[in-house]
Amino acid sequence: MPLSPPALELRGLTKRYDDGTSAVESFDLTVHDGAFFGLLGPNGAGKTTVISAVCNLIRVTAGEVLVFGRPAASLEARGWVGLAEQDINLDRFLTVEETLVYHGGYFGMGRDEAVVRAGEMIDIFDLRAKTRVRTPKLSGGMRRRLLLARALMHRPRLVILDEPTAGVDFELRGELWRYIERLHDAGTTILLTTHYLEEAEELCEEIALIRGGRLIARDTADGLRESYDADTLADVYVKAMAA
Ligand SMILES: Nc1ncnc2c1ncn2[C@@H]1O[C@H](COP(=O)(O)OP(=O)(O)OP(=O)(O)O)[C@@H](O)[C@H]1O
Ligand SMILES: [Mg+2]
Repeated sequence: MPLSPPALELRGLTKRYDDGTSAVESFDLTVHDGAFFGLLGPNGAGKTTVISAVCNLIRVTAGEVLVFGRPAASLEARGWVGLAEQDINLDRFLTVEETLVYHGGYFGMGRDEAVVRAGEMIDIFDLRAKTRVRTPKLSGGMRRRLLLARALMHRPRLVILDEPTAGVDFELRGELWRYIERLHDAGTTILLTTHYLEEAEELCEEIALIRGGRLIARDTADGLRESYDADTLADVYVKAMAA
């Protein structure tokens, strides 16, 4: 059997925004198929920029981004990735159900299939009572849940969650992680950013630390604790960012 290509391969990724801001510099990263991977770093480190490159939302200045061996800009790659963005961007004229069904449509699902799948997502994310409510009438946490539901709607092979638990209540956070873990157990690759280091420590098999647009370390949580001579990932983080 041929070896499956990595879920994600970044080679020499560099992004300078039009105003001259250098957000990411010669960034190399490989995330294997089926990984649960955490991308950690302070505000402005370049995490969302990396993700935006993977999801073909920005034009990269230099470098290559491959998703399961295909260029990020290709149609296949785009269909394989599901993104829950850090900024909640929902169409304000759509209801919860329409948001999900339309998204399914963009990714080639037939209407009946999309309606069934939307129903599953609505139940998983506990939005049943809001099925026919337009998105501006949702609470902040409910919008975040809908964003996650939408990202998963088309059954992506690579799920990218940019600060997924910001604003989500305690109970749902636990449920959300159990669901993401089930997806991971079923073979889905998960790429996550979070500022909740305990969450990353518990969930991620591998972690990359990024600062100033550069990769500064990449290992398992155990490996990072060892190499930074630290008791917790939070200690690792403090040491790595101070270095
Ligand atoms: N559209 C843009 N134009 C110019 N500069 C930008 C743009 N988007 C991001 N940046 C800059 O790029 C750098 C990296 O930002 P990015 O959003 O990737 O960081 P981040 O690691 O996701 O941070 P956070 O934890 O705050 O979400 C920052 O200096 C930011 O100001
Ligand atoms: Mg960000």
